Amino acid sequence: SSAAAVSKASLGFDSIAGSKTDAVSVPPGYTAQVLAPWGQPITAEGSAWQADGTNNATDQANAMGMHHDGLHFFPLNDEGTDGLLCVNHEYIDQNALHPNGSDKDADGIRSSVDQVRKEINAHGVAVVRIQLQGGQWQTVDNDPLNRRYTGATTMDISGPLANSSMLETPFSPDGSQARGTLNNCGNGYTPWGTYLTCEENWPGYFINKGATTADQDRIGIDTSGTTRYGWETVAGSDEELVDEFTRFDVTPTGNSASEDYRNEANGHGYIVEIDPYTANSRAVKRTALGRFRHEGCTFGKLAEGQPIVFYSGHDSRFEYMYKFVSDALWDPADAETTDRMAMGDKYMDAGTLYVARFDADGVGSWLPLTLDSMTTDGGVLADHFATLADIILNTAGAADLVGATPMDRPEWCAVDPFTGSVYLTLTNNTRRDETTGTNPANPRLNNKFGHVIRWDEGEAHTEFTWDIFVFGSDAAGDANTNLSGLNEFNQFASPDGLAFDQRGIMWIQTDNGADEVENYTNDQMLAVVPSQLTDADGNLDVINADNQAQLRRFFVGPNGCEVTGFTITPDYTTMFVSIQHPGNWPYSSNAAEQTPAGMSLRPRASVVAIRKSDGGELGV
Ligand code: FEO
Ligand code: CA
Ligand code: CA
Ligand code: CA
Repeated sequence: SSAAAVSKASLGFDSIAGSKTDAVSVPPGYTAQVLAPWGQPITAEGSAWQADGTNNATDQANAMGMHHDGLHFFPLNDEGTDGLLCVNHEYIDQNALHPNGSDKDADGIRSSVDQVRKEINAHGVAVVRIQLQGGQWQTVDNDPLNRRYTGATTMDISGPLANSSMLETPFSPDGSQARGTLNNCGNGYTPWGTYLTCEENWPGYFINKGATTADQDRIGIDTSGTTRYGWETVAGSDEELVDEFTRFDVTPTGNSASEDYRNEANGHGYIVEIDPYTANSRAVKRTALGRFRHEGCTFGKLAEGQPIVFYSGHDSRFEYMYKFVSDALWDPADAETTDRMAMGDKYMDAGTLYVARFDADGVGSWLPLTLDSMTTDGGVLADHFATLADIILNTAGAADLVGATPMDRPEWCAVDPFTGSVYLTLTNNTRRDETTGTNPANPRLNNKFGHVIRWDEGEAHTEFTWDIFVFGSDAAGDANTNLSGLNEFNQFASPDGLAFDQRGIMWIQTDNGADEVENYTNDQMLAVVPSQLTDADGNLDVINADNQAQLRRFFVGPNGCEVTGFTITPDYTTMFVSIQHPGNWPYSSNAAEQTPAGMSLRPRASVVAIRKSDGGELGV
């Protein structure tokens, strides 16, 4: 990699120590504010959050969802003091959501319709208007642009699977729509001002107790017991409730797809586009970008007259890294349009999906997933799939056939605005053992610390060069473990959230899984300016023993949480991150303080707004 362009940003804070408290830690001179926690109402139909868990399903449909994850700020004024925050709500904690936890019985059967509706409504995406007043961010109650997308919201299907027989359901006989978005983990945004929410661990919400399909076998839809939360069980024999809840059981029971829910899961596993600036606008599932456990979605460095590239990782052990290359060529005028969803139609519905093969010696190939693509046995994908829609439905199965490289859980991707280099977090993979073996891009057995890999696209869309930017480790790890020479002030494990700001600072967030680091610190966020790291030949360097001061810990989250999601205002004076599944926070672990109104502990995922006390630019 050659560093043709270099960021001028200079990190203006010292690395902070690790922390294990029920509070967030920031460098001296910085402040952190809780904003838009789970349960806070955003429309008039929702009532105030109750500490005893008694808010009902309607309240939850009109309030911030649970377990905040990816997020993005869309400004409404030039100063960036007024805007829309889109927030993903990945999953739920039933113990915190309900007064006394889930009502499921010993067989996993649910009985409370309101509980299940509340759980479905706690998933999805929130759009909420926020304003900066007197140095504090506030949500704008009942703003016309405030809204929720939940696990039950009607959404349109676009791209190769739109109107296909595989999307045909009793709800959408023409296969044009699906209900709900689930397990919204990482996010993206587009150059034309829309939000992208990514459906990650959706297979766990469906079950097929009968004859399964190839794509269901490949992705791992359950075949016995109940789904993750048992939503499919609550309708019982109440026919009025079957369409609302039994749809999560995709076991074929009728003679055709219009008579049962066999295709219901086929409406999930996509990148979903939302226009935050248009009230009540319908979300669209962009199927051309593949169907798998999408962690995030990040566009590559834009060039006028060139395709737009979107990157998305499949977060599961031994799964793959994908990119979508648009047929349409980028026209910068499209960034200014107000017909935003038409830009999604233009750039995200037609193109080529590729999967990555990382070869030895730092070279790699993007393998197209099209009917005429070569398979490793000398045939073509058309030997196994009849249409592009069939390939998309079982994206991972097609990727197996072309010889993609099994990775250590691809999470978020980020693109350096200066060099165009693409960075990808590989969070961990403790099941990589002697049997599975290693590969050059995933070189560690029992990879519990994870690593960040990087590549530069070649002249053709099918080529790239790659190297490993940093390996996670504890500072005390031996030379075989601490391969990047990390110290107390930047040791980390399980990199997950990843983002560049437009000044060239890369922000690395963690979802810790390794005791060696967890014993020292809660999950955290680190900063580095990769384009400034060059070796003696002027090529981009990796983190090593000589440049430790360049990788600095900026933020530490409260006990039990994951730090995830990153967005920053255009003037770089406020950064928003999510605190997901905290253990106690925003209460302390002091028993007297953690029980407001004498109620049981009910921690709240939330956005945190980070600013400098003097209102200046963050990070520098
Ligand atoms: Fe929901 Fe892969 O993190
Ligand atoms: Ca994640
Ligand atoms: Ca993770
Ligand atoms: Ca998580």
